[in-house]
Formats: sequence, structure tokens, C-alpha cells
Amino acid sequence: PAPGWTVEADVVVVGSGIAGLTAALRYAELEPSAKVLVVTKDVLSSGSTRWAQGGIAAVLDPRDTPDEHLNDTLVAGVGLCDVRAVRTLVTEGPGALRRLMARGARFDRTPDGELQLTREGGHRRRRIVHAGGDATGAEVQRALVEAVRAGAIEVIEHALVLDLLKDAEGRARGVTLHVMGEGARDGVGAVHARAVVLATGGMGQVYSATTNPVVSTGDGVALALRAGAVVRDLEFVQFHPTVLWLGAGSTGRQPLISEAVRGEGAFLIDHEGERFMAGVHELADLAPRDVVAKAIVRRMRETGHDHMFLDGRHFGRDTWESRFPTIYAICREHGVDPVTQPIPVAPAAHYASGGVRTDLRGRTSIEGLYACGEVACTGVHGANRLASNSLLEGLVFAERIAGDIHAVRPSPGAPVPGEEVEGLVDPRGRPRIQAHMSTGASVLRSRESLTDTARALRDARWTPVEVPACTESWEATNLLTVATVLTGAAAARLETRGSHWREDHDLRDDNEWLGHLDVTLTEEGL
Ligand code: SIN
Repeated sequence: PAPGWTVEADVVVVGSGIAGLTAALRYAELEPSAKVLVVTKDVLSSGSTRWAQGGIAAVLDPRDTPDEHLNDTLVAGVGLCDVRAVRTLVTEGPGALRRLMARGARFDRTPDGELQLTREGGHRRRRIVHAGGDATGAEVQRALVEAVRAGAIEVIEHALVLDLLKDAEGRARGVTLHVMGEGARDGVGAVHARAVVLATGGMGQVYSATTNPVVSTGDGVALALRAGAVVRDLEFVQFHPTVLWLGAGSTGRQPLISEAVRGEGAFLIDHEGERFMAGVHELADLAPRDVVAKAIVRRMRETGHDHMFLDGRHFGRDTWESRFPTIYAICREHGVDPVTQPIPVAPAAHYASGGVRTDLRGRTSIEGLYACGEVACTGVHGANRLASNSLLEGLVFAERIAGDIHAVRPSPGAPVPGEEVEGLVDPRGRPRIQAHMSTGASVLRSRESLTDTARALRDARWTPVEVPACTESWEATNLLTVATVLTGAAAARLETRGSHWREDHDLRDDNEWLGHLDVTLTEEGL
């Protein structure tokens, strides 16, 4: 539909997690007279950031070094990280974290006032700051939302982004939105801006069971694909190893049991009480999360069970209540007392390591379009993101994007009308898309499973009825687009690396596959 209203801004930021709000706040600091507009699909405080438990990784201990953080990140990324991007992340991370604290975020401290640091999978040092024990994201989101509300940044909530607007030269010139119930700005409208920052988060909802909230439907990646931007490495979906197992067939957002629980000494056991991570990796239970997720799935297959257990009984009640209050409460809510019982866990979809390809300044392949946070592929995660590097990436690269827009001062021409999305997907197809992805393109993949999934996704596009244009149908359309690209990339990568595990190509192949899979959507398709 044609836009019914238009708003003018200097910069429009799409998304309101750590990446989007940091970009908006930083740009407003650099250009106090500019009009910065944040648009977000739900309310300002929703999205994935607020669910983050473990924390933010940064070199703050004098015994730690950026080189060690770099090395742990590269090892976890299994040969596909961009070393320059990782060096940027680890060297600029501590400063970005301090600026986050200056914006109001408060992290847990030791009795003598130092930041308390923990470990998670793949980290050889204690370098993860946390808040409220295991409620880091909630504190970060609170602080950033308060900072945005206190400043001059404008916000439109309940605004689903539809498509990128471009000028005649193909430069980004704003976005179209579908807004619900925001007064004069109801329905489809347009924001015209000199620069567009995509910070829409992840796509965990392409699977039936995920740690991601219901809003994580890959909207930014789908927009970027429709706009012709390059998307990279979508096959690398990270499955978090320890997600509370809620029973066979449980779907939707699943509660996370932070890796910090293992960082503080909990360990995995099978149904016989046997520890199975020793011998799998030198870091045993603290191996990078792809290694742990695979070991859990292998043990589940060997023993015929659909979950394993995380044992933290030795912590005692006081530690559970003070150090992990959120997880303790969630477990109790689901009838598990982690003081007396091992916690049932299974892997679930958690994080997209790939996304819209960017350079070190967050620029995508379309001039004036930037991407940061989970929607982006900056090169820092490679084939498997290191725990607690995601909030850090959002901070560091959002600040870089603000700096780049400030330095470049983009001045695109007038927006030209774009193509409308054709053939919206029936929202009733959403659970089917998720089920097909979970069956065939999940932790373990094969040529056969991916071929079946691709076929099922093609069938899902066909809709016998006229589908109304609404949030649910746009979301289902976006899910189908990203699921299709993800499945195609997973079918193309004929090796096992990081979080991409092929049963029929179960070795890493550095001769053929030490490279990336870049995808663009053309008029002919992918
Ligand atoms: C966790 O707390 O285990 C999740 C942290 C992350 O995804 O980096």
C-alpha cells in the first residue's frame, strides 16, 4: 500500500535493543541539532537485549589482554572471523562499556567496588560483567531506554519496518513502516532520512523452539535482501546448549539457562549421572557453545533421550538465589529446584552469527544503509559467536556507525517509489515454517533434510487465499524469506564448521570452505 503519512528525520534507527539505542544516543551526542528517530516493532523496551542473562565480555582484569580476548573469539569462530573486526571489538570494547555505564547501566561489583567478572563457554579468562546476577540485559535495556526518554530522540513504537526507500542513485533514503495505533501515524507510512540504521535483532523465530522473543522474525535481513543488499553466512545459526527443557514438542520462546552457570562451576550430566564433556574438549563444560551443543545432541542420540541435565546442586540455595535469581525463579516456576535437582536442558536456536554484511564502520553494500547488532554480519562471530560478545558488538559498532554518519553527512536525493512486496504469506503458515526448519535445518543437517526443508518452504509460499497486509503476514513473509536463504546456504556449505553441522560432511574443510557465503536477491531470485 502507498504510504499514508510521511515523517522527516536526519537519521532513522530501526530497532530498540542495545545496538539501536546506542547508535541513536551516540549520534544525538555528536549532532545535538539533528533529528534522530527510533522506530521499533513493539515497545521501546522489548526485543532480545532485555533477555540477555550472562553479560558483556570485555577486557577489564589487569591480568587479561585484548589479544587473549581476540584469540578466544577467533577460536570460537572456527576460521571465519574477520581479524580486523575482532581486533576492533576487543580493543574498543572496554571504552564502549564504560560509556554504557556513564549512560546509567549499573553492573555487579565485588565488596571492594571492582566490577565482578565471570566466565562462559570459550573464555579462558574471567571477563564477563553482569548485572542483577543474571539479568544483565534487563539492566542494559532499562538504562538505555531511560537515556533515550530523557533526551531529544523521537520514538515511534508499534512500527513494523517494511522496506527500504532509495533515491534514484540507489542510496538509502528512509524506510516504509506499518504502524498500529499511534494516532495520526496509523497504518502504512514513510520515514525520509539521510541515513538508515538497521538494528532489528535476530531471526530465532524461524525455529519452533528458540530463546528469542516473538518479535525476532528476521525483518531486517528480509528488508535488506529485498533492497538488494548483500547478506552473509546465514547458515551459522547458533544453538544455545542449555535451554530449560519444558517437555517434548514445547514451542515458542524457551527459558535460557545462562552459560555463566557453567562458568561458576555447574556441569552437564546424562540420565545416568555421567559427566560427558570431559574428553570432548580441553575446556570440558566450558568449551565454546557449538562444541557443547553438539556433544549434548550426540549424547541424546546415543541414549535415546530428548534432553540432558545441568547440575549445579553444589552451589547451594544461597548462591542460586543471590547469583542467579532469574534462573532460579524460572526453574522453580517450572517445577525444578536446582538446589536439589539437576536442571533438564536441551539446545535451542539462539543467535544468528551471520546477517547483513557490513564493513568496520557498519556500512552495508547499499550507500547510506547501516546495520549493527544481531542483524549485521560485521565479521566478529565467524562460524560461531563467542558467549557475551553480542552485546559488546552492539555497543562498539553502533558507536562506529554514529561516528561514520557524522563524518560522511550523507545527502541522498529524493526517494523514488519502491516495489511492493508481492505474495504475502498467510500467517497461519508460520508454525509450519518453524516446524520444517526445526526438523530439517536445525542443529544437525544433511543434504536430504535440507532438500526436504527447501521443498516444504517452496510449498509454504503458495497461498490459495488473498492474504491481508498486516503485521502477521509481513512477519510470516519475512520468516519465509530468511528461512529459504538460510536453508539454501546450509545446503551449499558442504562441510561441518562451528554451528553448521552436516551429518553427511562431518569434517571441517579448510581447502574448499574457508570462505563466506554471500547472498543477494535479484529479480530472478537468489
Ligand atoms: C548466556 O548467558 O548464556 C547467553 C549469553 C550469550 O548469548 O552471549
